Formats: sequence, C-alpha cells, structure tokens
Amino acid sequence: MLIDPYNRPITNLRIAITKRCNLNCIYCHREGEDKPGKEIDPTLIHQLAHAFHEKGVRKVKITGGEPLMRTDLPEIINELPEFEEISITTNGTMLADIAYELKEVGVNRVNVSLDTMDPDKYRYITGKNVLDSVIDGIEESLNAGLTPVKVNMVLLKGINDDEIDAMMEFVRGKNAILQLIELLDFGDLENRRMDMVALEESLARRADRIEERYMHRRKKYYLDGCVIEVVRPMDNSHFCKYCNRIRITSDGKIKPCLMRNDNLVDTTCLKGSDPSELIMEAVNKREPFFKEVK
Ligand code: 5AD
Repeated sequence: MLIDPYNRPITNLRIAITKRCNLNCIYCHREGEDKPGKEIDPTLIHQLAHAFHEKGVRKVKITGGEPLMRTDLPEIINELPEFEEISITTNGTMLADIAYELKEVGVNRVNVSLDTMDPDKYRYITGKNVLDSVIDGIEESLNAGLTPVKVNMVLLKGINDDEIDAMMEFVRGKNAILQLIELLDFGDLENRRMDMVALEESLARRADRIEERYMHRRKKYYLDGCVIEVVRPMDNSHFCKYCNRIRITSDGKIKPCLMRNDNLVDTTCLKGSDPSELIMEAVNKREPFFKEVK
C-alpha cells in the first residue's frame, strides 16, 4: 500500500489522457495542467496503471481534457488491470454512441459534466450549443448500465444557482446522483463563487435523510427522491487531510496535488523500465494544499 508522508493512503488514481476538449468552459481547471505537451501513449498508461494497481490503488478515473476525444479510449480501458472501479469523467457530448462499448470494455460508471438544463446558459458556459447531445449521452449511459451516473454541476453564482431544482428534476427517478461542486477559482471568477454553507443548510432543511462520508466530510442528501452530494474542496483542510488521490497528467507526469505544478514527476523517460522509484518519489512529495490551522 502507498502511504504518503502525511499518513494518507493512495487508493485512487486519475489519469488525464488528453488535454484536448471540444468545449471551452468558462471555469475549467484543466485538471490543474498548464503547458501542453505530447499526449501520453497507451504503453506508458498501462505501465503506470499496472504499477499503481500492484501497489494497492483500487479505483481509477480517466479524465482529460475530454477523454472521448481520444479514439483509442476503448483500447486504453480494455488493457487496464482489474481495478475495483473504472470510471470516466466526460462532458457527455460524444457519449451516446460509445456508452455500450465503454460498458463492454469494463467501465463501471461515468461522471458527466452538466451545469444547466437551459440551452442558452449551456452555450454561455461551454461555448457550444450541444445540450441535447449531453442529455442523450446521459440517457444512453443509464441504458448501458454505466451507473450510478454522477451529474457534475459546478455552481456559478448568478448563472446556474437558480437551477438546482431543475437539475434535481432531471436526475429524479434515474440511477443518477447530482453532485453540486464548489467552484475552484483559478483567477477571475471570484464573484461567481457561491456560499456553500448556506447551500448545505438549505439542503439539510429539505432533506429526508443525510449521510456523511468520513472521507472529505462529504455529505449525501436524500431529498425529494433525489440523491445529492456536495463537493467542497476550497480552503477545506479536511478535504486535503483525507485526500487519497494521485494523478497522471496527459503528458505523462505523476502529479501529487491538483492545485500545484511545481512538484511533478516525469515518467516519459522510463521507456519500459520499472516505474516504482518514480512513483515513490511522487508519493513522497505529497502534502496537503489546504493545511489545518493549528
Ligand atoms: N471548479 C470546480 N470544478 C471544476 N471542474 C473543472 N474545473 C473546475 C473548477 N474551476 C470539474 C467539474 C467538471 C469536471 C470536468 O471537472 O466537476 O464537471
């Protein structure tokens, strides 16, 4: 098992397989990556995935950019080791046609980014007028059993904060979970950040039942026939304290923390040799970004 210097076990791996995306969302953190580089090749993906799996990583998430931009996505998934869970985070625009194939090659479930049910707002946020294809993508994922589908809604004050009920209506009765995500501000969207405390208070008032996950102190609200999770990473030392994730960037570097780019460990030099040392180096560089104030 991989344990970092702050006693945090590493159980989750996120692999960004491309930086390319067909949308251009106003808030996108691009998985914390900055400069573009050469896209990681399937051989290196598998070498790293197998090494992390051997060292006790249980779950893997394929991200991007938009992972469906890569035409070799099914092959990439097909050759992953037997993780407990393989999931994909996607914008859903190209999902409908490939949902069944993804299920066949071993994907367990998908996270689909969908911030609004309003076509004009969708175009404003993402730059493209393709809301219908995202909805089709979600429907096909449900049909294919890529469930529970998690619908990622990044909350943007003054843009979609009045749409939580509309999103609830959309997930109600489906094998889907609505994830309300706090905006991580990387510069110029400070005024779009929502009061997450007030939001959670109002959910708590309306909820029939609340479950708390120890990890991240994330709460699950059962409310009006919907399941809602709130993801609140900003200035949240608890979030960092229980962080169990490590990332691989789309250009083949191990990334110990979403929020930093000054501690990456390049693996493109491996050329088939054992990645263990580089993995240990990255694990040893891990430290909480938001630390507990003593
Ligand atoms: N703040 C919060 N979440 C973000 N995501 C991307 N950028 C941000 C940001 N600035 C997350 C959302 C989105 C997924 C692709 O990445 O959950 O659905």
